[in-house]
Amino acid sequence: MKILAIETSCDETAAAVIGVQGDEPVVFSNIISSQVDLHAKTGGVVPEVASRAHMEAIFPIVEEALKAGKRVSSSASQQKTEDLMKGITHIAVTSGPGLIGSLLVGFNTAKAIAYTNNLPLLPINHIEGHIYSTITNTRQDLENNSSNDGKFPVLALTVSGGHSSLTMVRDHLKYETLGETIDDAAGEAFDKVAKLLKLGYPGGPAVSKYAVQFRDRIVNSELRMMDKSCNSEFRIHNSNIQFPRPLISKPNFDFSFSGLKTAVLTEVLKLKAKNSRSKGSPSGLTAFQKEEICFAFEEAVIDLLVTKTIRAARKYRPVGIILAGGVAANQRLREELKNRIEKYNGEVEEKYKTNFYTPGAGMSGDNAAMIGLSAYYHILDGEKGNWRDANVDSNFQIKNL
Ligand code: KG4
Ligand code: ZN
Repeated sequence: MKILAIETSCDETAAAVIGVQGDEPVVFSNIISSQVDLHAKTGGVVPEVASRAHMEAIFPIVEEALKAGKRVSSSASQQKTEDLMKGITHIAVTSGPGLIGSLLVGFNTAKAIAYTNNLPLLPINHIEGHIYSTITNTRQDLENNSSNDGKFPVLALTVSGGHSSLTMVRDHLKYETLGETIDDAAGEAFDKVAKLLKLGYPGGPAVSKYAVQFRDRIVNSELRMMDKSCNSEFRIHNSNIQFPRPLISKPNFDFSFSGLKTAVLTEVLKLKAKNSRSKGSPSGLTAFQKEEICFAFEEAVIDLLVTKTIRAARKYRPVGIILAGGVAANQRLREELKNRIEKYNGEVEEKYKTNFYTPGAGMSGDNAAMIGLSAYYHILDGEKGNWRDANVDSNFQIKNL
């Protein structure tokens, strides 16, 4: 089995080749062309601009993935695309959810390749793809870990620009959605706060950078103030700003981020008004004020996500917890979830201890390797992949048990 996978659901044009070694799927290549610079000009994705950019990038990216996937780069660079297709047994493509114009570019490319090469076409759910960006690690790591005898169930916290959910993965391709966002997605909230503070696009990395700067300042000033002879641990002070944690004490697994965004706006207006009253201050926010807002906002989002995840772990006792989606790139979120899982493991009986998995390099944001990995399990499950039956669906929901 050798799968050519394509992903174009939003603003990344991506292609990958997945092969098999032993009975494990292996990523042979994972090529991503990002449209970030293009969308930075408008402060967000303009759907038509995104689809046009996919049109330009799709064939060069597919060719690059095929060449890299051959692992014989010197001769592969001379080969024609039809030769590069030799050995490919399946085509996989994201069929939703996503922007319809963007999805159609990747989907029709995949369909045409499947048709002309007489190959099966597997339509894959993008969110399932994100979950599979870590599930291969989960398999390997669990196999190395003798304290667990089962590979499933795992609990997946999937947080991206268009999606936030907690899902119990009972077995390969067997999902039970525990909760979802009832308004904005976590990544969307990061993007909106960045826009409000004029930090550029995409918002997640920018907000996170400002939050790190705030943390560093506090740590440095605390270090300076600390008595050198005192080696007691110190905690980073919380900021003076405390944002709300909507739904945090509700006994369910749903998320809500839009109130948080409104709270940020209220704080921004309050600080601006305060600045304009004090002589010599800029009319906007100072860099320090922006950093403090980013810090307090990031802490609130992370607290919401991690609290609900640990609550779900207590109820459903997964053997592993996976963090997936674009927001999984957030270092502070990874760190806090890891800490709270360690704390949880310290409190529960041996048999309930759980592992933590995050996507590897190039696998947390949108990519095609995750689509190919997910397709691998659909093929094992017996799916035939007739391109005549496949279609795009911009609201494609993950199938629940
Ligand atoms: O999964 P993804 O690449 O695309 C979607 O499926 O939406 O996720 C993109 C989202 C964006 O909202 C972006 O701001 C967010 O992931 N993101 C981050 C970070 N890096 C990317 N959010 C917080 N911290 C980050 N370091
Ligand atoms: Zn995504």
